[in-house]
Amino acid sequence: MSPHLRNGRLLLFVALIFILVNAEVPQPAVEESIRLDDALLAEPRPTPGRSIFFHETSCYDAKNKNLNILKLTARQVCAIESAALHNPNFQVFVLFVDRKYSLVVDPNVGNRSIQQPLFDAILSYSNVHLRRLNLWRYAAGTPMEKWLREGNLFRSRYLVSHISDFLRYLTLFRYGGLYLDMDVVVLRRMEDIPPNYTGAESDTFLAAGIMNLAASGFGHQIAASCLHDFQTNFDGNVWGQNGPEVITRVAQQICGTKNISVMQTNRKRCLGFKVFGRGAFYAVTSDKWLNFFNPHKLEETLARTKDSYAVHVWNSQSEKQPIKIGSTCAYAKYAEKNCPRAYHAAGEYF
Ligand SMILES: *[C@@H]1O[C@H](CO)[C@@H](O)[C@H](O)[C@H]1NC(C)=O
Ligand SMILES: *[C@@H]1O[C@H](CO)[C@@H](O)[C@H](O)[C@H]1NC(C)=O
Ligand SMILES: *[C@@H]1O[C@H](CO)[C@@H](O)[C@H](O)[C@H]1NC(C)=O
Repeated sequence: MSPHLRNGRLLLFVALIFILVNAEVPQPAVEESIRLDDALLAEPRPTPGRSIFFHETSCYDAKNKNLNILKLTARQVCAIESAALHNPNFQVFVLFVDRKYSLVVDPNVGNRSIQQPLFDAILSYSNVHLRRLNLWRYAAGTPMEKWLREGNLFRSRYLVSHISDFLRYLTLFRYGGLYLDMDVVVLRRMEDIPPNYTGAESDTFLAAGIMNLAASGFGHQIAASCLHDFQTNFDGNVWGQNGPEVITRVAQQICGTKNISVMQTNRKRCLGFKVFGRGAFYAVTSDKWLNFFNPHKLEETLARTKDSYAVHVWNSQSEKQPIKIGSTCAYAKYAEKNCPRAYHAAGEYF
């Protein structure tokens, strides 16, 4: 090859590189996109008994038109952050059910300015993992697989809520650990509480918004009993039938009593299953939910929840009640302290 020809090729090569480097190649919108990997496959997988789970089931909400956009409210993000903040040795999994998308925010449609800081807030915790979950694959190989295929669940009048009920028991069966509703604020460390517990929300019902079961042994047996009860007593027409009532019936069986206060005071009787009194998680009852939002009830509410592990804020009643950032209501005070990043990323209203 003559030196002349070689120089010519070199020139061509340099020119090509120059063009490539300067071409206006559209960049993928990396900042706006977060891949949601499958909960069953992605690493890290939930460590049995040492994980916290949240479920997001709004894709089953007929009113939800934007199925390709991942959304969390500031209050949901607060629940997640508070769990991650107070339990640094547990992994927190937020499972988005049957979402096909991988984009968190479509910059043309979604409200990037509002949503992105919220996602940044939780993703700044190294123990938070966002995952997608396929209902069918998640149930495969469990006692719920066949029942799910029969289709009763999908004929429910309260689909979002009943799928959420279904999943919380299924998750506890799969992994054990701590299930939390999205409308809680964790106020204290919970990772040291011995497993196998739930809380009472009234004199007649246990609640299913905060439950912990061990991944094996007795805890796993309780989860299996819950799945069995869920199938046997499922009623798509009754809102509470498949959530609180499941754990209530199962506990009544384990403890050999229907009396909730007897369950609370006598753990031996419940074979080690612990029923916390109302004060642990539901110190403010659902009929008093407005107290969380009323600055005049601040002292009273803080006093009532001073020994609580978490507060449950009754989202189905309270979601439309706005909180201006800086408000002196109890919910704002919990948020400032227990989910500071979510609170500050919320914008004008929390
Ligand atoms: C984004 O948020 C602003 C302020 O809340 C609102 O006015 C606007 O309609 C939102 N835009 C979209 C596309 O949701
Ligand atoms: C919860 O279940 C685990 C696993 O079966 C068991 O070892 C443990 O003793 C139980 N916890 C309590 C407090 O009973
Ligand atoms: C439950 O037991 C407690 C304590 O033994 C008793 O005072 C209460 O009346 C019982 N409640 C019901 C509904 O039976």
